[in-house]
Amino acid sequence: MSFWTGKQIVIGIGGGIAAYKSLEIIRRLREAGALVVPVPTPAGLRFVTELTLQSLAGGPVHGELMQPRQPGEMDHIRLAREADLVIIAPATADLMARMASGQADDLLTALLLARRGPTLAAPAMNPAMWSHPATQRNVARLREDGLLVIGPESGAMACGESGEGRMAEPAAILEAARRALTPPILAGRRFLITAGPTREELDPVRFLTNHSSGKMGWETALAALRAGAEVDLVHGPVALPPPPGARLLPVTTAEEMRAAALEAWQQRECDAAILTAAVADYRPAQRQPDKIKKEHEEPEMHLTLTQNPDILAELSARANGNQVVCGFAAETGNALERGREKLVRKGCDLLAINDVTAPGCGFGSETNIVTLIGRDGWEESWPLLPKEAVAERLIRAIHALLGQRHPT
Ligand code: C5P
Repeated sequence: MSFWTGKQIVIGIGGGIAAYKSLEIIRRLREAGALVVPVPTPAGLRFVTELTLQSLAGGPVHGELMQPRQPGEMDHIRLAREADLVIIAPATADLMARMASGQADDLLTALLLARRGPTLAAPAMNPAMWSHPATQRNVARLREDGLLVIGPESGAMACGESGEGRMAEPAAILEAARRALTPPILAGRRFLITAGPTREELDPVRFLTNHSSGKMGWETALAALRAGAEVDLVHGPVALPPPPGARLLPVTTAEEMRAAALEAWQQRECDAAILTAAVADYRPAQRQPDKIKKEHEEPEMHLTLTQNPDILAELSARANGNQVVCGFAAETGNALERGREKLVRKGCDLLAINDVTAPGCGFGSETNIVTLIGRDGWEESWPLLPKEAVAERLIRAIHALLGQRHPT
């Protein structure tokens, strides 16, 4: 079961070329288990056909105000009330002008006038149209009326021009949609999250690292952002798209990670830190300025390594009593026992322990089995869950602890 399972989403489609991107949104929502109802404007239907929308949504397309699907039904009222979320993509200049003045001359605008629940618009238009005072006035008024707006982005436009006006990408719209449906329990909170591996260079071409993919940290950042937190994400080299809205602090080595994390922790008054990064415990004692040459007569080579600073222990030592610090422990056998000892040694508030040798766990996997432990012997064991669900539970546990210590 995914977050979207069973949710009813109305997709309003305005008459702009970006309408082709809303097909991708419909496909992804359906794949994730949502019930999608496309409501194109008459102009929208000139860019995408009814047949395409029907096939992707797997149900009827609602387009005509005066021709309800069921005789006697008020499609615009029913859809406005039933939908968990309305997404307008693309929201054209004309559509937003009509919305801002409360017009209801087609099914979509009538539905929007009757709508009281969360509604998200993704504007798309030529940059000159977007920056025109009339459009800016309309968007400002719509925001005041409670409309959520994502984008537009800057970049190349279908009309050949370049500038601000491109519709946000489907992935970004879906993430904004998800945030619109998530209770903002962390609004006003700031989280520091570390993620990914570190890389410790031996010379200009070689380094020591580990298998961390950064996924657990990414899911944790996304869960915190969805709950309304501001997120500083200090991360080593990973191949993942940036979580929208996070302040990214890319680093390479453990020492760089320490400096970035400490600075964020102290200067930016974070409420909580979740350290998911797989920090290299040791680094080469010396980084050679030139590539290390193979010594043909020497069958062995010895490296001298120096211990890296322990960021988790340092942050915990500097926590002010209201701040919550949560570490991660990837163990291989005797996980719980080692984890309890680690919690005490590092002085953190919470430790998420997982046995990386258990099936479905560990580096690069999409799932994890976690036991979350706290001080005074508190513990909670979770079953095998997608990392996304682990992150959500973790955020809830930290929210509860923050609430006990320092209510917002
Ligand atoms: O000691 P171990 O590496 O198992 O501890 C794991 C936890 O400590 C993780 O939360 C990791 O991000 C953090 N850690 C750290 N600095 C280190 C080593 C680990 O912050 N040098």
